[in-house]
Amino acid sequence: MEAEKKDVLILAIESSCDETAASVVRNGREVLSNVISSQIALHTQFGGVVPEIASRKHIEKINQVVTQALEDAQVTLEDITAIGVTYGPGLVGALLVGVAEAKAIAFAAKKPLVGVHHIEGHVSANYIENPELEPPFVCLIVSGGHTHLVIVKDYGEFEIIGRTRDDAAGEAFDKVARAVGLGYPGGPKVDQKAREGNPHAIEFPRAKVEGSPYDFSFSGLKSAVLNYINKAHMTGEEIPVADLVASFQNAVVEALVSRTVLAAKEYGYDKLAIAGGVASNSALREAMQNACDEAGLTFYHPSPIFCTDNAAMIGVAAYYEYQKGTRHGWDLNAVPNLKLGER
Ligand code: KG4
Ligand code: ZN
Repeated sequence: MEAEKKDVLILAIESSCDETAASVVRNGREVLSNVISSQIALHTQFGGVVPEIASRKHIEKINQVVTQALEDAQVTLEDITAIGVTYGPGLVGALLVGVAEAKAIAFAAKKPLVGVHHIEGHVSANYIENPELEPPFVCLIVSGGHTHLVIVKDYGEFEIIGRTRDDAAGEAFDKVARAVGLGYPGGPKVDQKAREGNPHAIEFPRAKVEGSPYDFSFSGLKSAVLNYINKAHMTGEEIPVADLVASFQNAVVEALVSRTVLAAKEYGYDKLAIAGGVASNSALREAMQNACDEAGLTFYHPSPIFCTDNAAMIGVAAYYEYQKGTRHGWDLNAVPNLKLGER
């Protein structure tokens, strides 16, 4: 690739959980490379992410992944304008690997360092394939650790209007999947299995948080599913797995869609986006599309590969932060509980 002088090229690194990822993004919207080394197979035998193993694997893979990202993009470090990296939230040991790598590269190559909030990255994934999308818009962020309903006021500027009071949506998917023996990570397995089931077979509770129309609660639903399974075990009845997960998924989807569409209408925005691993759920995408069509809203969503953890989304977020003047020093540290909107 011929990198033009005026181009802003971000080399981005993501290692907050169980994917070691690096990417090169040109001018904020064009992904030149997107390398993801997934550890899923490694953690599957333990039924979830083992933090210690995740950190070790990140250390093993990170140099290879970064080199590959530069190679795929056909650029050298010389061409890169700035280094972007996720510094929180996430697993502290996992984050540290990416942050240390980014600092080392930035220092050695004399490039500016831009720390990125992981969730800002997830939201920014929407800009990759939707060149016309610009803030403001409403965005539902649903991942393994987060369920937030936000107004994206500007690039990197968020007003949080709703959040989960207990489990994150992805966490509920993972726990239910584990309870019915579908394994880890649960979301994609439930998504797949639910296609064989009837989403109206079992009526699960729809929790509303009193006085907070945009907040979510999934622990009651999760308990209802677990109770259903325990009861079936005690009475020796066979568990209708497909119907069960389809009904569970339907309850989650209804909660997510109704609140997000309500928020767009009440706050007066005509653009609605979704982000995070759960945003790749096929039932959620279909239901949100239908609800948006009905309400006259334009629905935006990243391709599944940009919904789950990746570094391209971090590169996009880093670009907009870079343009705003955000720079981090060599004291940049991993912040496992970094709040959205903090710098
Ligand atoms: O955004 P992500 O990759 O990592 C975090 O930042 O947490 O999200 C991972 C979560 C997991 O809980 C996973 O089960 C869920 O996203 N997930 C899904 C689907 N694909 C991934 N949940 C429902 N349906 C899917 N197709
Ligand atoms: Zn994530």
